[in-house]
Amino acid sequence: MAIQKGTYIINGVERVLYADPDKDSLGDVLRRYGLTGLKIGCGTGQCGACTIILNGEPVRSCVKKMAKVPDHAVIETVEGIGTAANLHPLQRAWIKYGGVQCGYCTTGFIMSAKAMLDKDPHVTREQVRAWFTKHNNLCRCTGYKPLVDAVMAAAAVMSGEAPLSSLDTVIAEDKRIYNTHYPRPAALGKVMGVTDYGGDISAKMPADTAHLAVKLADIPHGTILSIDCSEAEKMPGVLKVITREDIKGSNELGGALGGHSAMLKDQIFILHGVGMKVHRLGDAIAIVAADTRETARLAAAKIRVEYEELPVYKDALEAVKPGAVSILPGVPNAFFVQPIIRGEDPEVFFKQAETDPDIKVVSGSFLGSRQAHLSLERDAAQAFFDDEGVLTVVYKSQHVYAMRKVLMGALGVDKLRVIESPTGASFGAATRYDPGAYAGAAALALHRAVELELSYAEKQIITGKRCESYCNFKAAVRTDGTILGAKYDLAYETGGQSGNSVGTARKGARFGLGHYKCDNHRGLTRVILSNNAYLTAYRGAGSPEMFTSSESMIDMMAEAVGMDPYEFRYKNVVREGDLTPNGYPFKLYPLQDMMDRFRPTYEKDLKWRNEPAEEGWKRGIGISLGGYHVSWWTDICHVDLELTADGVTVYDTWEMQGQGGDIGSLVQAEEALRPLALGPEKIRLVQNDTRLCPDSGLAGASRSHFVHAGAIKDAADKLLGAMRKEDGSYRTYGEMVAEGIPTYYKGTLDTSGWGMKDLDPDNGQGDPMPDQNFIINIACVEVQEKTGKVRVVSSHNIADVGVVGNYLALDGQFYGGVFHSMGYALFENYSDFEKKYMTPLGCGFPKCDQVPDDFTVEYQQTPREKNPFGSGGASECFESCCHVSFLNAVCNAIGARIYEMPATPDRILAAIARRDAGETGAPEPYCFGKSFEEVLEDVRTHPLTVKTEIAGDC
Ligand code: FES
Ligand code: FES
Repeated sequence: MAIQKGTYIINGVERVLYADPDKDSLGDVLRRYGLTGLKIGCGTGQCGACTIILNGEPVRSCVKKMAKVPDHAVIETVEGIGTAANLHPLQRAWIKYGGVQCGYCTTGFIMSAKAMLDKDPHVTREQVRAWFTKHNNLCRCTGYKPLVDAVMAAAAVMSGEAPLSSLDTVIAEDKRIYNTHYPRPAALGKVMGVTDYGGDISAKMPADTAHLAVKLADIPHGTILSIDCSEAEKMPGVLKVITREDIKGSNELGGALGGHSAMLKDQIFILHGVGMKVHRLGDAIAIVAADTRETARLAAAKIRVEYEELPVYKDALEAVKPGAVSILPGVPNAFFVQPIIRGEDPEVFFKQAETDPDIKVVSGSFLGSRQAHLSLERDAAQAFFDDEGVLTVVYKSQHVYAMRKVLMGALGVDKLRVIESPTGASFGAATRYDPGAYAGAAALALHRAVELELSYAEKQIITGKRCESYCNFKAAVRTDGTILGAKYDLAYETGGQSGNSVGTARKGARFGLGHYKCDNHRGLTRVILSNNAYLTAYRGAGSPEMFTSSESMIDMMAEAVGMDPYEFRYKNVVREGDLTPNGYPFKLYPLQDMMDRFRPTYEKDLKWRNEPAEEGWKRGIGISLGGYHVSWWTDICHVDLELTADGVTVYDTWEMQGQGGDIGSLVQAEEALRPLALGPEKIRLVQNDTRLCPDSGLAGASRSHFVHAGAIKDAADKLLGAMRKEDGSYRTYGEMVAEGIPTYYKGTLDTSGWGMKDLDPDNGQGDPMPDQNFIINIACVEVQEKTGKVRVVSSHNIADVGVVGNYLALDGQFYGGVFHSMGYALFENYSDFEKKYMTPLGCGFPKCDQVPDDFTVEYQQTPREKNPFGSGGASECFESCCHVSFLNAVCNAIGARIYEMPATPDRILAAIARRDAGETGAPEPYCFGKSFEEVLEDVRTHPLTVKTEIAGDC
């Protein structure tokens, strides 16, 4: 290997770097020299997370070979543009405008924007969008809107049009921060590039840390006949090849959501051994530990596995065809069903419609696509023995205590510490812990610190996805717009593992026409295996799949009875006294008020829709309406507070996935301790380490903001009670200590006494959550009829999630959720079986210019009675039904329905062709094995808690 000496001006200082000119990228070398503010996400030039400035131009440093970097080049990285006391205007604007969520893209965007504004700070929003698009700056969290806002604000300062103070954070005199735009604490480290994510921690581990690589299955379906590690073991530098035999525990990763989902717990393994089946390409067979990462990877490639190959089912429909073999031994491929039985059988109305012209029957079959979470960060994990000798795993876990419990059983240890690393977003994917399990297993086997960083492609293959969904839907509606009844059969594909499919399918059972008055339901949600990626939690879990058909059907019913789709929804939205499909009252009924408030927006958008479009383009408007459920039928959350000499410390495990676990905890603590008027500066957060913090539960299920508030209020009331003097004033820390009064208090919220109950497994009736949230979306699009290309012109959205805790965090979740929904509807897809899906852009990740600048979010803030601050849970609401607003808008534009997602140009052109031929294009109903009636008959005659015997022929 030849080493090149190069002299460069880095952040204003001449420095000498040594590098392999052909092998090293500029990003690799800068990181090696400690400049880890640039992040390596995709590693293939697609995402922009590694952007630095080279001779005045933004450069994606991961693909810039050192051989191409000229001597004396001027290099700028984020480390050189500002300090904590003197941030660059772009860094300040990023904080003030909510540009930081997970923050993984942040330094790349800031450096890219700096290169643009250094040339000319007089830019338009369109120019900013075009710049980020041209330079491949991708963000998965923000929907780009806050980023463009931030650039415009910084540009105004840099051009002298606005003072630097316009970027200051201002707080009220009384220091109250609840329901304000106070920025999140983690933002500062992220805009400066000093936050160490998993990959950064891996790069900075002590020198004797072993490096890991994973050997994954070579085929998606087969039985392992032999595993030959001899070639790998012989390689110099290899420390050990860890296989199933080295794992002393159960080797199972089931129950990853802490027991909230009835998963098949014996089917998800850390490592697959001889005699076992592999069910998907992401199944792991061995872990190689070596003295370098490169050696570990080379050795992993030398492991030879013999298989007895089995038929491969690339989707669920293939896996239920007659003669298909069972993917999980002993379990039918269609292994779970949740019925929803309420009121009269809608078949009665379908029959009546044959003779009654006043009743219309509408039906359709809908395909929902697979969607990858596409966080920009790769997955990385570290494991070591801490200063107390306890095995410790550092990973981006979404529930550190559940991960601890699962890994203790899987690895066979009775003590384990789990720490969440700063996380470059997960959106649900980090409810599984495979990389953490690999690292933990290796550290145990070697009794040594280890690190593992997956490539982006490995991450794609290993992690779960939102999987395909298939739904047959039929409904009867009176010509006056009254919905009479609905029958629906929704199958969720769950790939090669049960993953979180059962919980997801049971969530989906709540949303079939779930926000409209409809008293007569016959529904099924089913789960079917395949050999593709497995189903895992993804924001909105279970609901988008149901809304795909349900909200399409609402438009189809409106059309069948000649009503405007907004008015049809207005007539039918639930009002006081109406029940959910699961037979219980809503927690609140805000939808009519929301529709009244949102009507002017609809009318304005409708006016735009009816104006002439550009030659060759058609305009369309689409609505969707829905929401999500908060927490579960029973939930528990713990938070501790400690009074200190400097203020108060909060101890919790509100995992910070980018959504704002830090700001959530901060605003709640300040509010709960309002009598002390501490303000944010005197509250310290200690989070997400099982050794230091109590179990606050999963950061998911839209539960955190809702339940954490009750726990922190409990702890705060105890602390304030202890501090309060007889005259109503409060003791200082010194007085508390002097009087021997405890300064540490534990708070708990336990909802088990609130009277909720899980859905009945036989009829889907129950009251499974303590709070709900609601959303209405309106999308405007233009479709080019010749090419099928879609331009999204606007997205206007309103939600009711209770009192807003923090606007920046909530807006960010809102923009991000709608952004993911747009991708799901129009652009994104995934399959383990095609190489293109191993990269963000290959999956259809929308760039900045595909997202409209006319993108608004607003709130109706109905206080929630069960939350001490009036807030509900939020984030999944924003990715529940929203995708259907885009689908319905496309259908409205072309005058034909799209039944299969994503609505890509080829599908749009096919729909236009069918329209022109006078065909409806409605696909044949999907077949899921046993028919709807046969399954219901099974349920009637053999009620079971978890149905596992429903497979059969069509
Ligand atoms: Fe370099 Fe993605 S573009 S890491
Ligand atoms: Fe942009 Fe997370 S904040 S990727």
